[in-house]
Amino acid sequence: MDKLLIDDPALHASALAGLTASPKTLEAKWFYDAAGSALFERITELPEYYPTRTEAAILRAGTDRLAAAVPDDAALVELGSGASVKTRILLDRLDHLAAYVPIDISATFLAQVAEGLRAAYPALPILPVTGDFMSPVTLPPRIADRPKVAFFPGSTIGNLEPADATALLARIRDWPGIARFILGVDLVKDPATLTAAYDDAAGVTAAFNLNLLHRLNREAGADFDPDGFAHEARWNADAARIEMHLVSRHAQTVRLGDTEIAFAAGESIHTENSHKYTRDSLAGLAGVAGWRIADWMTDPDDLFAVSILEPAP
Ligand code: TRP
Repeated sequence: MDKLLIDDPALHASALAGLTASPKTLEAKWFYDAAGSALFERITELPEYYPTRTEAAILRAGTDRLAAAVPDDAALVELGSGASVKTRILLDRLDHLAAYVPIDISATFLAQVAEGLRAAYPALPILPVTGDFMSPVTLPPRIADRPKVAFFPGSTIGNLEPADATALLARIRDWPGIARFILGVDLVKDPATLTAAYDDAAGVTAAFNLNLLHRLNREAGADFDPDGFAHEARWNADAARIEMHLVSRHAQTVRLGDTEIAFAAGESIHTENSHKYTRDSLAGLAGVAGWRIADWMTDPDDLFAVSILEPAP
């Protein structure tokens, strides 16, 4: 047998650990190569994928309430800022900010986005920080004495395990001068709406999930037949989460470097969770980390919520 190429040892090691575990898993962070990031952009525009447009509408309708919650001369700090698209809704209205601090893992993308923001908001200091918001981050010294408002949209918190979500909330609660946390969360709703959002008719989310297998073939020495796996979005009511799976269509064996991995027909690889919340469940999660809900803004259909958290006394 010829040797398959292992370009990315970290990806290979992570996949080997996940695919030899029971049940099988792959880490969601590997979704976002260039192809995956482009597919994700398309997901946010799908008719079935309501969270992005609903959250933007809530922010647009709520700018007065948001402005009232942000202290004068505060620094707005965004976790995983990406293209900072939703942030512009806030920046257009918040004319009393001392600085905007986008935190993102991709340094080159961050630099590009910062340039665009400086052009659009010439009076506002844009202070990008390259880093993983899941680890402790060092904030710019320039905002040391400012009140801070954290911004974490997109229900990205829902992609974390509850214990990791609590740890993140607690870490930010400890920032010196932390005043508010503006947090976007997707809400529990009927399972048909939820599963459709993660299994669209055009098959974009399926392609996004299956891209993991293509990526393992390209970069981690695997020989998956991606057509041998089906994308599945499952609503797990007990855990209040959508689970994404790749389900083996038949019994098969896949190579990953030197390892052979056997799949039974119907066996799944669990690739991601997207937790859904109620006002009560979020109050519980935030409460454990020292926050209380100061304001709660939703759309007319209660699909999504933007919650303004404040430090609990
Ligand atoms: N946090 C969003 C959500 O859970 C976006 C997201 C992350 C997503 N991973 C995804 C959307 C996978 C679809 C598929 O909805």
